Amino acid sequence: MTVGIRPRRSALYMPGSNARALEKAKTLDVDCLILDLEDAVVPDAKELARTQICEAVAGGGYGEREVVVRINGLGTPWGEDDLAAAVKAGPDAILVPKVNSPADLQRIALKLAVLGASRDLKLWAMMETPEALLNAGAIGACGKDPQVRLSCVVMGTNDLAKETRARLTPGRAAMMPWLMTCVAAARAGGVDILDGVYNAFQDEEGFAAECAQGVEMGMDGKTLIHPKQIDTCHAAFSPTPEEIAWARKINEAFDQPENADKGAIQVEGKMVERLHAQMGRRVIAIAEAIAARS
Ligand code: COA
Ligand code: MG
Repeated sequence: MTVGIRPRRSALYMPGSNARALEKAKTLDVDCLILDLEDAVVPDAKELARTQICEAVAGGGYGEREVVVRINGLGTPWGEDDLAAAVKAGPDAILVPKVNSPADLQRIALKLAVLGASRDLKLWAMMETPEALLNAGAIGACGKDPQVRLSCVVMGTNDLAKETRARLTPGRAAMMPWLMTCVAAARAGGVDILDGVYNAFQDEEGFAAECAQGVEMGMDGKTLIHPKQIDTCHAAFSPTPEEIAWARKINEAFDQPENADKGAIQVEGKMVERLHAQMGRRVIAIAEAIAARS
């Protein structure tokens, strides 16, 4: 059930135009890297960024880090070339910006087939338009369609604020219904979901609070804009020793012969059901995958 689980606690964006950042990425303790050709790169630097990113990806050296290239949309002058170049370079995934509906992903998936992309190449989708929020369930459901190969959705909260005019305030009250809708959409489709970025990267306290909120919402991890955000993010999204110990304890309890035919038992004064043991097994699998990586 938990075979192939992949920690995605942190996903650091870096502009493809920043050669220094692409190199530095090889030394950062981060789960995923999003090498950006889109919002972080100005039009004049698009081609240079594409060349730099593709050389870096093809050159390798990123170890266990999941390498993701964010392309420009197909409706822009750069999208088609970005897609072809990214397929050639061979990252782990391509992140599609401003997805409005499943058709946007299906179109890219068809192109991947035509370009002869490896079956291991996955798609990630940005959830950052009002249309995406209204079509969230259908977009998440692409996780069930092997042709589309969707494995993760990413909240684009800055674009959402721009497009909806909702304010990004501490606590994110206005965004919360959309964030939780997308969590439900991701879970229904069996894909991971990453929370949006926290722009004020010098504000450690505010960032830690937003990470904690993401954990509470059920996010698998958070997108980051600066290396100094990584440690706090990992502290929030890694299972704690107490959670791991509890997960082991309830699984051991259900493994006892006297509990073999029970659906609910008592452990340390708390009712636990087999669903809690299942949740615990996921915690243990994530913790083991993190430990195997470090
Ligand atoms: N990825 C990798 N390295 C990064 C980085 C990132 N996102 N952000 C900063 N760094 C590196 C810098 O290159 C610098 O390295 P050096 O010391 O070897 O020169 C070091 O970290 C310190 O950087 P700092 O001076 O604190 O920040 P800055 O002013 O150079 O850059 C930003 C600030 C916000 C412009 C930069 O962090 C950035 O570009 N972030 C990503 C933006 C992005 O991709 N947005 C799109 C998605 S929301
Ligand atoms: Mg965006």
